[in-house]
Amino acid sequence: MSYNIAVDGPAGAGKSTIAKLVAKKKGIIYVDTGAMYRAMALFMIRENVDPKDQEAIIAKCADANVTLGQEDGQQVVYLNGENVNGLIRTEAVGIMASTISVIGEVRAKLVEKQQALAKTTDLIMDGRDIGTVVLPNANLKIYLTASSEVRAKRRFDELIAKGQKCDFAQIKADIEERDYRDMHREISPLKQADDAILVDTSYMTIDEVVEKILALAEEN
Ligand code: DC
Repeated sequence: MSYNIAVDGPAGAGKSTIAKLVAKKKGIIYVDTGAMYRAMALFMIRENVDPKDQEAIIAKCADANVTLGQEDGQQVVYLNGENVNGLIRTEAVGIMASTISVIGEVRAKLVEKQQALAKTTDLIMDGRDIGTVVLPNANLKIYLTASSEVRAKRRFDELIAKGQKCDFAQIKADIEERDYRDMHREISPLKQADDAILVDTSYMTIDEVVEKILALAEEN
């Protein structure tokens, strides 16, 4: 039996940063499921699919093969065999990913791959529905969150550090809008699983959060 840790939470709560560090310390694989939705979104953008046309998205889905691999200890997401890691971290792809992830057929296709991987691999997987839908029997479930104010500030600082111009109020509004969409969609909305442990990272350092999860993993 493989050992699985599920991490869910809203955008900007620190899921990927924390999960990567926990994976390294425990010697297990880190799986970022958001990257799979983003790769599928990139495909839809390239195909000029209208984001409002769910039928078209479902039909196009059949032509997109999204797979995961590891290169130099890092997750790589492939779209029909092409490494698209460098192309999926844009706002446009993020918005399209959030839009297409409300569609059951899109989710089913990606969830099946996530479950198959978890069955045979010790891993920490992050997303929105990992503890609730993808890995209901995970050994440990964490719900990682932080206030929208703190999450917006982290994103703002990141963009400023990259030398990009940005508006704090706009970033906060975008985060709140995405939270709303992820939490209120009909299929697999973002919510804390009944048996998940809530970790609010608003006033914790990265090291403190990692230590807390490692300690919980020792018990589970
Ligand atoms: O975590 P992220 O921002 O890279 O995710 C991009 C979008 O994909 C996000 O708006 C919600 C969606 N997503 C999802 O619905 N289920 C997951 N397991 C992971 C991401």
